[in-house]
Amino acid sequence: MIHASALQQYLDFAYIVAVVLFILSLKWLSSPRTARWGVIGGEIGAALAVGATLYNPELVQYKWIIIPLIIGAGVGIPLGMVKMTAVPQRTALSHAFGAASAAMIGIAEYYVNTAHLTRFEMGEIALEVIIGSLTFTGSLIAAGKLQEILPQRPIVYRGQNIVSLAILAAALALAVVLVVNPVQAALFPAMVGIALVFGIMLVTPIGGADMPTVISLLNSYAGFSAALLGFVLNSKVLVVAGALDGSSGFILSVIMCKAMNRSFTNVMFGAFGQVQAGGAKEKEDRIVRSATAEEAASILEAANKVVIVPGYGMAVAQAQHKVRELYDTLTKRGVDVQFAIHPVAGRMPGHMNVLLAEADVPYDHLKEMDDINGDFPQVDVALVIGANDVTNPAAKTDKSSPIYGMPVLDVEKSHTVMVIKRSMNPGFAGIDNPLYYMDNTLMLFGDAKAFVSNIVKELGGAH
Ligand code: TAP
Repeated sequence: MIHASALQQYLDFAYIVAVVLFILSLKWLSSPRTARWGVIGGEIGAALAVGATLYNPELVQYKWIIIPLIIGAGVGIPLGMVKMTAVPQRTALSHAFGAASAAMIGIAEYYVNTAHLTRFEMGEIALEVIIGSLTFTGSLIAAGKLQEILPQRPIVYRGQNIVSLAILAAALALAVVLVVNPVQAALFPAMVGIALVFGIMLVTPIGGADMPTVISLLNSYAGFSAALLGFVLNSKVLVVAGALDGSSGFILSVIMCKAMNRSFTNVMFGAFGQVQAGGAKEKEDRIVRSATAEEAASILEAANKVVIVPGYGMAVAQAQHKVRELYDTLTKRGVDVQFAIHPVAGRMPGHMNVLLAEADVPYDHLKEMDDINGDFPQVDVALVIGANDVTNPAAKTDKSSPIYGMPVLDVEKSHTVMVIKRSMNPGFAGIDNPLYYMDNTLMLFGDAKAFVSNIVKELGGAH
């Protein structure tokens, strides 16, 4: 039998290995080349941390671990199998579950230890439970908006920020009273309830287009709540894992704000995502030129340099494998083909990278916006496949546009732009795209998968 202190050393060692794997996992996840290792490393780290915790000699019975584990797996497995386009709302639900569990453990710690809590411990629990509770309801609202169960537009009213801040202040005030005297048990549920209401108030006024940033921010709240829980439970691995989760979520939010040219305060306190009204008459008067797959194929055939710009429509149509066939066919004919990846193309960070990687498009042909924007004047054909907002030149020129200031791909500078989409309907931001009326633009109306497939056939590259 292993001596208790020796066992503790083994467990500590397992925790250190888990923490190292978490850090390496984040590092690996930052490049598509090593991302697979990032996922595997993170999974092994989590399995080690959970396994070591289950070995903890303080654990006396497993019943209350095994039953929730089975229930959790029952919910988690189908959730993990949703379509790629539903991943943002699935992620929001995961944050809701993570935050709820952190909050509930904090609540249990309070009720089990009320009589013995020091002020410091009470402060940790109160903060952790407030963040966990507001993240829980905030994430549920975010998931509801993304699933379109709730209205996607921002719901705003006069004085909203003041009301929201007053609610948060009330929860914090109760926390302070509890820190001074932890045994005032009646105040604890009131504090939790107010924090739950604040989560709803926090996310309701935020518009659909800002939702990814908010989800990433909620991710960081859930992480910080878990880190605080680590202090409450005296679990170092939870402190580190929570801090890594919290800070990486926060950094991602900053990156996404930059990609959409939005400030944090604007995302949290502004109202974005409203559909722009008007302009319909002006739209009707403008001329749109369209082409067939045969015409598109002959233009591509004559090109030396082609840049493919994928967007949300490629994901909806699941056209990535056909796009790969097009890439192969054109490359075989000596055409230089690159992919231009906008940081918020699609509906989640890295959406296009994941789809193109699934279709085995070589990574070194995927160019980030800043690296490829300067090349467009030398590009013969920019082939936009189901992308809209990320190519909208109004973001650069029209100060009244809701996406004004968002960096976009300069496709209109190419000699010819061809846009595959089904109609003249707007994209996520709900606004018209002047690109479609430009002299060098040809609209290729149709489903992305079917249209790309027809172009490949015309080029004689179909299997
Ligand atoms: P969008 O602007 O949403 O445009 C997608 C276009 O795809 C639509 O205009 C649609 O036009 C077309 N489409 C849909 N289904 C199609 C199909 N089966 N075949 C062909 N085309 C199809 O997409 P985007 O350019 O990728 O921009 C992303 C937008 O989403 C940005 O506004 C961004 O801020 C926002 N957003 C991004 C994220 C992240 S993190 N990536 C998360 C949430 C929101 P038709 O209906 O005419 O076909």
